[in-house]
Amino acid sequence: MSPAVAKPREIQVAYTPWWNEDRGVGQALLHTSDAKFRLLMAGRQSGKTTCAVAEICMDALAHPGHTNWWVTESLEIKATAWNALLDFLPKEVISKTNQVERLIRLTNGSEIYVKSAKGDKSLISASLDFVVCDEAGLWKEEAWERGISPMLVARPHARVLLVSTPRSRNWFWRMWNKGRPGPGKEPEYESFHWKSEDSPYADLGYLAERRKNMPADLYAEEFEADPIDSAGGVFRNVRNCIGYRAAAPDALTCIGVDLGQKHDFTAMIPMNSKRQALFVERMQDDYPIQKQRLGAMVFQMNFGRLVVDEANIGLAIVQDLRSAGFPVESVATNSAPVKRALIENLRVAFQQNTLSIPDDPVLLDELEAYSYEVLPSGQIRYSAPDGQHDDTVIALALALWGQRGSLYQYAQPARATSYAGRGGPSYGRR
Ligand SMILES: Nc1ncnc2c1ncn2[C@@H]1O[C@H](COP(=O)(O)OP(=O)(O)OP(=O)(O)O)[C@@H](O)[C@H]1O
Ligand SMILES: [Mg+2]
Repeated sequence: MSPAVAKPREIQVAYTPWWNEDRGVGQALLHTSDAKFRLLMAGRQSGKTTCAVAEICMDALAHPGHTNWWVTESLEIKATAWNALLDFLPKEVISKTNQVERLIRLTNGSEIYVKSAKGDKSLISASLDFVVCDEAGLWKEEAWERGISPMLVARPHARVLLVSTPRSRNWFWRMWNKGRPGPGKEPEYESFHWKSEDSPYADLGYLAERRKNMPADLYAEEFEADPIDSAGGVFRNVRNCIGYRAAAPDALTCIGVDLGQKHDFTAMIPMNSKRQALFVERMQDDYPIQKQRLGAMVFQMNFGRLVVDEANIGLAIVQDLRSAGFPVESVATNSAPVKRALIENLRVAFQQNTLSIPDDPVLLDELEAYSYEVLPSGQIRYSAPDGQHDDTVIALALALWGQRGSLYQYAQPARATSYAGRGGPSYGRR
């Protein structure tokens, strides 16, 4: 009698990849590709993670003894991925799970680890077979270049799937272009793209609401996976709005003030009613000295109104300044909707060329580095990148906020007209 040959086992998983016939896109197509480097750039909530979970699990099931990694940007997503993997894998194929190591061992000897691109110093493996890089657009290029990429080179058969919503035209987008169909396509790469609305699981009502309430380019990036063409992403056209002629204060000048915490800078930017920001002043003194300087600035600017960020220590200072008789408008920048309105007002002004700014290197750096993130709720949070300042950005946004009633905004772009001495048109006053 011939020895019994083990019959391949059939394993049922509760997953059917979606396919959008009209658009010719979907998870189903990605699963058929055998490229070494696969890149999926797709809209939010469109099934990127779901199809990557299916990929990593199917690879582990089909190849006994494989070592597979799921690498995510943050620990928060790490927990979600862990649960998604356990949900996908049928119980009978799991021999061990270790939540501390984030390891799932299968009965066929394959192992799946969940790691973080940021926190884990352990991004080294001698026997890596398959890697998923989830939300790769959020990663620093270094995590890919120093962590994952060299291991793939060392293991010629190893494969990788990078999935993400784009985050500006960064390294992930450049890599996605290598696999884009067309004459420049590199043979080992294959790239895929779809929009959120392409998925049959998309909530179309939610997408319609987002489209209405988000800046168009942000919507395009988040839900249509069309990356914003700008390094920082938030403010565009910044350098075109530099005013090279001296601008003077007028009777409606207001002064945007971002009050620094103990070790932070306080930034002040006066802006006249033509929406010309005059100059940037930063200081790091004690509050009594700062208050004196603010007072002096008010007089220098024709008793101009202060528009002050009241977050943290701000409120106490606002009250002091008011009791001293200064005209002060306070803005609660620690409220998310207020901060968003403030920044989006500035964004639109840059896009439409309806303000001018001084050629100040700190201001330009901060504006160009300023970034945003879309929270799981779909809300946008604006902030400076980790470890960087945004005091001049906030001061400018506050100054512009103070000018939101100025009639100038209905007139021509700030740069093209009335600088001091040029005899430009005059505009009505509030
Ligand atoms: N093939 C599928 N079968 C059943 N449900 C699916 C499928 N693909 C996606 N979904 C559902 O669509 C929703 C979004 O999926 P998923 O989390 O994979 O999207 P994502 O693009 O990774 O989202 P995010 O942008 O938030 O990371 C989930 O509720 C998921 O269960
Ligand atoms: Mg996801």
